[in-house]
Amino acid sequence: MTYDFDRVIDRSNTGSEKWGPFEDQDILPMPVADMDFSAPPEVIEALRRRVEHAVFGYAQPTQGLVDTVVGMCRARYGWTIEPEWIVWLPGLVSGINVTCRAVGNPGDAVMTAVPVYPPFLTAPRNMKRELVSVPLRCEGGSRWTFDWEELERRWTSATRLFLLCQPHNPVGRVFDRAEIERLAAFCLERNIVLCSDEIHCDLILDAIPHIPTAALSPEIAANTITLMAPSKTFNLPGLGCAFAIIPSPKLRAAFHQAKAGIVPQVGVFGYAGCEAAYARGEPWRQELIHYLRANRDYVTSFVRDELPGVHTTPIEATYLAWLDVRDLGLKDPVNHFKEHGIALSDGRFFDGEGFVRLNFGCPRQTLQAGLRRLKAGVQALS
Ligand SMILES: Cc1ncc(COP(=O)(O)O)c(C=O)c1O
Repeated sequence: MTYDFDRVIDRSNTGSEKWGPFEDQDILPMPVADMDFSAPPEVIEALRRRVEHAVFGYAQPTQGLVDTVVGMCRARYGWTIEPEWIVWLPGLVSGINVTCRAVGNPGDAVMTAVPVYPPFLTAPRNMKRELVSVPLRCEGGSRWTFDWEELERRWTSATRLFLLCQPHNPVGRVFDRAEIERLAAFCLERNIVLCSDEIHCDLILDAIPHIPTAALSPEIAANTITLMAPSKTFNLPGLGCAFAIIPSPKLRAAFHQAKAGIVPQVGVFGYAGCEAAYARGEPWRQELIHYLRANRDYVTSFVRDELPGVHTTPIEATYLAWLDVRDLGLKDPVNHFKEHGIALSDGRFFDGEGFVRLNFGCPRQTLQAGLRRLKAGVQALS
Protein backbone atom coordinates (compact mmCIF):
# COMPACT_ATOMS: atom_id res chain seq x y z
CA MET A 1 0.00 0.00 0.00
CA THR A 2 1.32 3.41 -0.99
CA TYR A 3 -1.28 5.26 1.09
CA ASP A 4 -1.80 4.82 4.81
CA PHE A 5 -5.46 4.22 5.61
CA ASP A 6 -4.57 2.76 9.02
CA ARG A 7 -3.36 6.12 10.31
CA VAL A 8 -5.68 7.47 13.02
CA ILE A 9 -6.02 11.24 12.64
CA ASP A 10 -7.27 13.27 15.59
CA ARG A 11 -10.21 15.27 14.28
CA SER A 12 -11.05 17.03 17.53
CA ASN A 13 -11.05 20.85 17.45
CA THR A 14 -11.23 20.92 13.67
CA GLY A 15 -14.88 21.95 13.44
CA SER A 16 -15.89 18.48 12.30
CA GLU A 17 -19.63 17.91 11.98
CA LYS A 18 -19.04 14.24 12.75
CA TRP A 19 -16.63 14.50 15.70
CA GLY A 20 -17.45 17.95 17.11
CA PRO A 21 -20.61 17.03 19.04
CA PHE A 22 -18.77 14.23 20.91
CA GLU A 23 -15.46 15.94 21.65
CA ASP A 24 -15.76 15.87 25.42
CA GLN A 25 -17.44 12.45 25.61
CA ASP A 26 -16.22 8.91 25.19
CA ILE A 27 -18.36 8.33 22.11
CA LEU A 28 -17.06 7.14 18.74
CA PRO A 29 -18.93 8.96 15.98
CA MET A 30 -20.00 6.77 13.07
CA PRO A 31 -22.94 8.69 11.63
CA VAL A 32 -22.21 11.61 9.22
CA ALA A 33 -20.99 10.34 5.85
CA ASP A 34 -17.43 11.53 5.67
CA MET A 35 -14.39 9.33 6.16
CA ASP A 36 -11.70 9.64 8.82
CA PHE A 37 -8.92 9.26 6.24
CA SER A 38 -6.61 11.93 4.93
CA ALA A 39 -7.54 13.16 1.45
CA PRO A 40 -5.28 11.94 -1.39
CA PRO A 41 -1.83 13.60 -1.21
CA GLU A 42 -2.30 14.54 -4.88
CA VAL A 43 -5.28 16.69 -3.84
CA ILE A 44 -3.48 18.16 -0.85
CA GLU A 45 -0.60 19.19 -3.10
CA ALA A 46 -2.99 20.91 -5.54
CA LEU A 47 -4.65 22.76 -2.66
CA ARG A 48 -1.27 23.79 -1.27
CA ARG A 49 -0.33 25.25 -4.63
CA ARG A 50 -3.65 27.07 -4.78
CA VAL A 51 -3.10 28.51 -1.27
CA GLU A 52 0.35 29.71 -2.24
CA HIS A 53 -1.07 31.60 -5.16
CA ALA A 54 -2.69 33.73 -2.44
CA VAL A 55 -5.44 35.35 -4.50
CA PHE A 56 -8.83 33.86 -3.72
CA GLY A 57 -11.20 35.68 -6.01
CA TYR A 58 -14.41 34.43 -7.60
CA ALA A 59 -13.78 31.27 -9.49
CA GLN A 60 -14.93 29.46 -12.57
CA PRO A 61 -14.07 25.98 -13.77
CA THR A 62 -10.93 25.93 -15.88
CA GLN A 63 -10.87 24.21 -19.25
CA GLY A 64 -8.57 21.64 -17.66
CA LEU A 65 -11.22 20.78 -15.05
CA VAL A 66 -14.02 20.52 -17.61
CA ASP A 67 -11.85 18.30 -19.82
CA THR A 68 -11.04 16.17 -16.77
CA VAL A 69 -14.71 15.59 -15.92
CA VAL A 70 -15.62 14.87 -19.55
CA GLY A 71 -12.63 12.51 -19.79
CA MET A 72 -13.52 10.80 -16.50
CA CYS A 73 -17.07 10.07 -17.68
CA ARG A 74 -15.76 8.64 -20.94
CA ALA A 75 -12.88 6.63 -19.47
CA ARG A 76 -14.64 5.27 -16.39
CA TYR A 77 -18.15 4.71 -17.74
CA GLY A 78 -17.95 4.93 -21.53
CA TRP A 79 -20.34 7.87 -21.21
CA THR A 80 -19.82 10.73 -23.65
CA ILE A 81 -20.98 14.03 -22.24
CA GLU A 82 -20.78 17.54 -23.67
CA PRO A 83 -19.06 20.26 -21.59
CA GLU A 84 -22.17 22.46 -21.70
CA TRP A 85 -24.24 19.75 -19.99
CA ILE A 86 -22.29 20.29 -16.75
CA VAL A 87 -23.79 22.61 -14.12
CA TRP A 88 -21.43 23.24 -11.19
CA LEU A 89 -22.80 23.20 -7.66
CA PRO A 90 -21.35 23.83 -4.20
CA GLY A 91 -22.97 20.60 -2.98
CA LEU A 92 -25.32 17.86 -4.08
CA VAL A 93 -27.96 18.49 -1.45
CA SER A 94 -28.55 21.84 -3.10
CA GLY A 95 -28.64 19.93 -6.41
CA ILE A 96 -31.46 17.73 -5.08
CA ASN A 97 -33.38 20.76 -3.85
CA VAL A 98 -32.82 22.72 -7.07
CA THR A 99 -34.03 19.72 -9.06
CA CYS A 100 -37.24 19.58 -7.02
CA ARG A 101 -37.74 23.28 -7.70
CA ALA A 102 -36.90 23.04 -11.40
CA VAL A 103 -39.28 20.22 -12.27
CA GLY A 104 -43.05 20.66 -12.15
CA ASN A 105 -44.90 23.09 -9.92
CA PRO A 106 -45.82 23.46 -6.26
CA GLY A 107 -48.43 20.85 -5.45
CA ASP A 108 -46.94 18.27 -7.86
CA ALA A 109 -45.62 15.00 -6.52
CA VAL A 110 -42.05 13.72 -6.21
CA MET A 111 -41.50 9.98 -5.85
CA THR A 112 -38.64 8.18 -4.21
CA ALA A 113 -37.83 4.71 -2.89
CA VAL A 114 -37.22 4.42 0.84
CA PRO A 115 -35.28 4.09 3.03
CA VAL A 116 -33.15 6.82 1.49
CA TYR A 117 -30.67 9.60 2.24
CA PRO A 118 -32.77 12.11 4.28
CA PRO A 119 -32.50 15.15 1.94
CA PHE A 120 -34.46 13.10 -0.63
CA LEU A 121 -37.35 13.28 1.84
CA THR A 122 -37.01 16.92 2.82
CA ALA A 123 -36.23 18.50 -0.59
CA PRO A 124 -39.71 17.90 -2.11
CA ARG A 125 -41.33 19.43 0.94
CA ASN A 126 -38.89 22.34 0.93
CA MET A 127 -40.12 23.06 -2.60
CA LYS A 128 -43.80 22.56 -1.72
CA ARG A 129 -44.08 19.29 -3.59
CA GLU A 130 -45.89 16.27 -2.23
CA LEU A 131 -43.54 13.45 -1.26
CA VAL A 132 -44.55 9.97 -2.40
CA SER A 133 -42.21 7.48 -0.79
CA VAL A 134 -42.44 3.88 -1.93
CA PRO A 135 -40.66 1.28 0.22
CA LEU A 136 -37.92 -0.81 -1.42
CA ARG A 137 -38.56 -4.54 -1.11
CA CYS A 138 -35.96 -6.74 0.51
CA GLU A 139 -36.16 -9.87 -1.66
CA GLY A 140 -35.33 -13.05 0.20
CA GLY A 141 -34.25 -10.90 3.15
CA SER A 142 -31.03 -10.00 1.36
CA ARG A 143 -31.58 -8.01 -1.83
CA TRP A 144 -33.16 -4.59 -1.77
CA THR A 145 -34.97 -3.74 -4.98
CA PHE A 146 -37.83 -1.64 -6.31
CA ASP A 147 -41.40 -2.63 -5.62
CA TRP A 148 -42.76 -2.30 -9.16
CA GLU A 149 -46.38 -2.98 -8.24
CA GLU A 150 -46.31 -0.38 -5.53
CA LEU A 151 -44.62 2.18 -7.82
CA GLU A 152 -47.35 1.57 -10.35
CA ARG A 153 -50.06 1.85 -7.71
CA ARG A 154 -48.73 5.05 -6.11
CA TRP A 155 -47.97 6.95 -9.31
CA THR A 156 -50.46 9.64 -10.35
CA SER A 157 -50.55 12.21 -13.15
CA ALA A 158 -49.25 14.74 -10.58
CA THR A 159 -45.98 12.79 -10.28
CA ARG A 160 -43.37 14.82 -12.13
CA LEU A 161 -40.06 13.68 -10.65
CA PHE A 162 -38.41 10.53 -9.34
CA LEU A 163 -35.39 10.86 -7.05
CA LEU A 164 -33.10 7.85 -7.48
CA CYS A 165 -30.07 7.09 -5.34
CA GLN A 166 -27.70 4.87 -7.35
CA PRO A 167 -25.63 3.30 -5.79
CA HIS A 168 -28.01 3.44 -2.91
CA ASN A 169 -27.47 5.16 0.42
CA PRO A 170 -28.24 3.58 2.87
CA VAL A 171 -28.95 0.03 1.60
CA GLY A 172 -25.67 -0.24 -0.36
CA ARG A 173 -27.16 -1.77 -3.51
CA VAL A 174 -25.83 -1.09 -6.99
CA PHE A 175 -29.02 -1.53 -8.98
CA ASP A 176 -28.31 -3.57 -12.09
CA ARG A 177 -28.89 -2.60 -15.69
CA ALA A 178 -32.29 -4.30 -15.82
CA GLU A 179 -33.53 -2.52 -12.71
CA ILE A 180 -32.34 0.90 -13.86
CA GLU A 181 -33.67 0.35 -17.40
CA ARG A 182 -37.05 -0.60 -16.00
CA LEU A 183 -37.14 2.41 -13.69
CA ALA A 184 -36.07 4.75 -16.52
CA ALA A 185 -38.78 3.26 -18.78
CA PHE A 186 -41.36 3.63 -15.98
CA CYS A 187 -40.44 7.34 -15.77
CA LEU A 188 -40.30 7.93 -19.54
CA GLU A 189 -43.70 6.34 -20.14
CA ARG A 190 -45.29 8.54 -17.48
CA ASN A 191 -43.53 11.80 -18.26
CA ILE A 192 -41.64 11.73 -14.95
CA VAL A 193 -38.19 13.34 -14.92
CA LEU A 194 -35.57 11.07 -13.39
CA CYS A 195 -32.97 12.56 -11.08
CA SER A 196 -30.12 10.10 -10.60
CA ASP A 197 -27.88 10.90 -7.63
CA GLU A 198 -24.70 8.98 -8.40
CA ILE A 199 -22.46 10.50 -5.74
CA HIS A 200 -21.44 7.02 -4.52
CA CYS A 201 -20.67 5.63 -8.00
CA ASP A 202 -16.89 5.50 -7.51
CA LEU A 203 -17.25 3.61 -4.24
CA ILE A 204 -18.41 0.25 -5.59
CA LEU A 205 -16.77 -2.47 -3.51
CA ASP A 206 -17.60 -5.52 -5.61
CA ALA A 207 -16.84 -6.22 -9.26
CA ILE A 208 -20.02 -4.53 -10.44
CA PRO A 209 -19.83 -1.80 -13.08
CA HIS A 210 -21.47 1.54 -12.52
CA ILE A 211 -23.82 2.32 -15.39
CA PRO A 212 -24.80 5.99 -15.37
CA THR A 213 -28.57 6.09 -15.77
CA ALA A 214 -28.28 8.69 -18.51
CA ALA A 215 -25.85 6.49 -20.48
CA LEU A 216 -28.59 3.90 -21.12
CA SER A 217 -30.08 5.65 -24.17
CA PRO A 218 -30.45 9.13 -25.70
CA GLU A 219 -34.14 9.16 -24.69
CA ILE A 220 -33.28 8.37 -21.08
CA ALA A 221 -30.46 10.95 -21.15
CA ALA A 222 -32.92 13.61 -22.30
CA ASN A 223 -35.14 12.81 -19.32
CA THR A 224 -32.41 12.59 -16.67
CA ILE A 225 -30.62 14.96 -14.33
CA THR A 226 -27.48 13.23 -13.05
CA LEU A 227 -25.82 14.40 -9.85
CA MET A 228 -22.16 13.60 -9.21
CA ALA A 229 -19.30 14.82 -7.05
CA PRO A 230 -15.75 13.86 -6.04
CA SER A 231 -16.66 14.54 -2.39
CA LYS A 232 -17.62 11.08 -1.10
CA THR A 233 -14.98 9.17 -3.04
CA PHE A 234 -12.00 11.36 -2.24
CA ASN A 235 -13.26 12.54 1.16
CA LEU A 236 -13.58 16.19 0.16
CA PRO A 237 -17.13 17.14 1.21
CA GLY A 238 -15.84 20.16 3.14
CA LEU A 239 -14.48 21.62 -0.11
CA GLY A 240 -17.96 22.06 -1.58
CA CYS A 241 -17.73 20.99 -5.20
CA ALA A 242 -20.31 18.95 -7.09
CA PHE A 243 -22.04 19.02 -10.45
CA ALA A 244 -25.18 18.11 -12.31
CA ILE A 245 -25.03 16.69 -15.84
CA ILE A 246 -28.13 17.68 -17.78
CA PRO A 247 -28.22 16.81 -21.49
CA SER A 248 -31.69 18.29 -22.16
CA PRO A 249 -31.41 22.04 -22.93
CA LYS A 250 -34.94 22.54 -21.57
CA LEU A 251 -34.28 20.79 -18.27
CA ARG A 252 -30.92 22.53 -17.99
CA ALA A 253 -32.50 25.95 -18.47
CA ALA A 254 -35.11 25.13 -15.80
CA PHE A 255 -32.33 23.98 -13.45
CA HIS A 256 -30.32 27.18 -14.01
CA GLN A 257 -33.46 29.23 -13.42
CA ALA A 258 -34.26 27.37 -10.20
CA LYS A 259 -30.82 28.01 -8.74
CA ALA A 260 -30.46 31.61 -9.96
CA GLY A 261 -29.44 34.04 -7.25
CA ILE A 262 -29.70 31.45 -4.48
CA VAL A 263 -27.04 28.81 -5.01
CA PRO A 264 -23.54 30.27 -4.62
CA GLN A 265 -20.65 29.56 -6.95
CA VAL A 266 -18.09 26.88 -6.20
CA GLY A 267 -14.96 28.29 -4.55
CA VAL A 268 -11.35 28.10 -5.71
CA PHE A 269 -10.49 25.17 -3.43
CA GLY A 270 -13.50 23.15 -4.50
CA TYR A 271 -12.52 23.38 -8.15
CA ALA A 272 -8.83 22.75 -7.47
CA GLY A 273 -9.61 19.70 -5.32
CA CYS A 274 -12.06 18.31 -7.85
CA GLU A 275 -9.61 18.53 -10.73
CA ALA A 276 -6.74 16.98 -8.79
CA ALA A 277 -8.96 14.17 -7.48
CA TYR A 278 -10.30 13.10 -10.85
CA ALA A 279 -7.04 13.73 -12.73
CA ARG A 280 -4.57 12.17 -10.30
CA GLY A 281 -6.54 10.41 -7.54
CA GLU A 282 -7.14 7.05 -9.19
CA PRO A 283 -4.29 5.11 -7.51
CA TRP A 284 -5.49 6.41 -4.12
CA ARG A 285 -9.08 5.46 -4.96
CA GLN A 286 -8.03 1.93 -5.91
CA GLU A 287 -6.34 1.46 -2.55
CA LEU A 288 -9.27 3.04 -0.75
CA ILE A 289 -11.66 0.54 -2.34
CA HIS A 290 -9.37 -2.29 -1.28
CA TYR A 291 -9.35 -0.99 2.30
CA LEU A 292 -13.09 -0.32 2.44
CA ARG A 293 -13.81 -3.78 1.04
CA ALA A 294 -11.89 -5.32 3.93
CA ASN A 295 -13.73 -3.04 6.38
CA ARG A 296 -17.02 -4.05 4.79
CA ASP A 297 -16.13 -7.74 5.13
CA TYR A 298 -15.12 -7.17 8.74
CA VAL A 299 -18.43 -5.45 9.56
CA THR A 300 -20.45 -8.12 7.77
CA SER A 301 -18.85 -11.03 9.59
CA PHE A 302 -18.85 -9.21 12.91
CA VAL A 303 -22.59 -8.56 12.61
CA ARG A 304 -23.19 -12.20 11.64
CA ASP A 305 -20.97 -13.77 14.30
CA GLU A 306 -21.05 -11.35 17.23
CA LEU A 307 -24.29 -9.41 17.15
CA PRO A 308 -27.31 -11.67 17.63
CA GLY A 309 -30.50 -9.85 16.71
CA VAL A 310 -28.70 -7.51 14.27
CA HIS A 311 -28.88 -8.17 10.54
CA THR A 312 -27.44 -6.62 7.44
CA THR A 313 -27.66 -7.23 3.70
CA PRO A 314 -24.78 -7.40 1.19
CA ILE A 315 -23.11 -3.98 0.95
CA GLU A 316 -22.09 -3.65 -2.69
CA ALA A 317 -21.12 0.03 -2.51
CA THR A 318 -20.56 3.00 -0.16
CA TYR A 319 -18.87 2.92 3.25
CA LEU A 320 -22.21 2.68 5.03
CA ALA A 321 -23.75 -0.37 6.68
CA TRP A 322 -27.52 -0.43 7.06
CA LEU A 323 -28.19 -2.46 10.18
CA ASP A 324 -31.56 -3.96 10.96
CA VAL A 325 -31.92 -3.85 14.74
CA ARG A 326 -35.66 -4.46 14.93
CA ASP A 327 -35.21 -7.82 16.63
CA LEU A 328 -33.50 -6.10 19.57
CA GLY A 329 -36.84 -4.51 20.45
CA LEU A 330 -35.29 -1.13 21.32
CA LYS A 331 -37.47 1.97 21.41
CA ASP A 332 -34.56 4.26 20.63
CA PRO A 333 -31.62 2.22 19.27
CA VAL A 334 -29.43 5.26 18.57
CA ASN A 335 -29.70 6.46 22.13
CA HIS A 336 -29.13 2.98 23.50
CA PHE A 337 -25.91 2.53 21.52
CA LYS A 338 -24.77 6.05 22.36
CA GLU A 339 -24.94 5.05 26.01
CA HIS A 340 -22.51 2.28 25.08
CA GLY A 341 -20.13 4.72 23.38
CA ILE A 342 -20.99 4.67 19.68
CA ALA A 343 -22.98 7.23 17.69
CA LEU A 344 -24.92 5.99 14.66
CA SER A 345 -27.38 7.50 12.19
CA ASP A 346 -31.02 6.98 13.08
CA GLY A 347 -32.96 4.99 10.49
CA ARG A 348 -36.03 7.08 11.20
CA PHE A 349 -34.54 9.99 9.27
CA PHE A 350 -34.23 7.70 6.24
CA ASP A 351 -37.80 6.45 6.62
CA GLY A 352 -36.33 3.24 7.96
CA GLU A 353 -37.59 2.82 11.49
CA GLY A 354 -35.83 0.03 13.38
CA PHE A 355 -32.57 0.44 11.42
CA VAL A 356 -29.35 2.29 12.17
CA ARG A 357 -26.58 3.26 9.75
CA LEU A 358 -22.93 2.71 10.60
CA ASN A 359 -20.14 4.52 8.74
CA PHE A 360 -17.14 2.23 8.25
CA GLY A 361 -15.02 4.78 6.38
CA CYS A 362 -12.38 4.84 9.08
CA PRO A 363 -9.14 3.12 10.11
CA ARG A 364 -9.64 -0.55 11.03
CA GLN A 365 -8.75 0.06 14.65
CA THR A 366 -11.48 2.73 14.98
CA LEU A 367 -13.95 0.37 13.34
CA GLN A 368 -13.00 -2.45 15.68
CA ALA A 369 -13.45 -0.18 18.68
CA GLY A 370 -16.85 0.93 17.39
CA LEU A 371 -18.00 -2.63 16.81
CA ARG A 372 -16.87 -3.65 20.30
CA ARG A 373 -19.10 -0.90 21.67
CA LEU A 374 -21.97 -2.06 19.50
CA LYS A 375 -21.48 -5.56 20.89
CA ALA A 376 -21.51 -4.26 24.45
CA GLY A 377 -24.81 -2.54 23.63
CA VAL A 378 -26.28 -5.79 22.31
CA GLN A 379 -24.94 -7.84 25.23
CA ALA A 380 -26.46 -5.41 27.72
CA LEU A 381 -29.88 -6.50 26.48
CA SER A 382 -29.52 -10.16 27.39
C1 LIG B 1 -26.86 10.16 -1.94
C2 LIG B 1 -26.19 11.40 -1.43
N1 LIG B 1 -26.35 12.55 -2.08
C3 LIG B 1 -25.76 13.70 -1.66
C4 LIG B 1 -24.95 13.69 -0.53
C5 LIG B 1 -24.32 14.95 0.00
O1 LIG B 1 -23.90 15.77 -0.95
P1 LIG B 1 -23.19 17.16 -0.57
O2 LIG B 1 -22.35 16.96 0.64
O3 LIG B 1 -22.41 17.44 -1.81
O4 LIG B 1 -24.30 18.15 -0.36
C6 LIG B 1 -24.77 12.50 0.18
C7 LIG B 1 -23.96 12.50 1.41
O5 LIG B 1 -23.91 11.56 2.15
C8 LIG B 1 -25.40 11.32 -0.28
O6 LIG B 1 -25.23 10.16 0.35
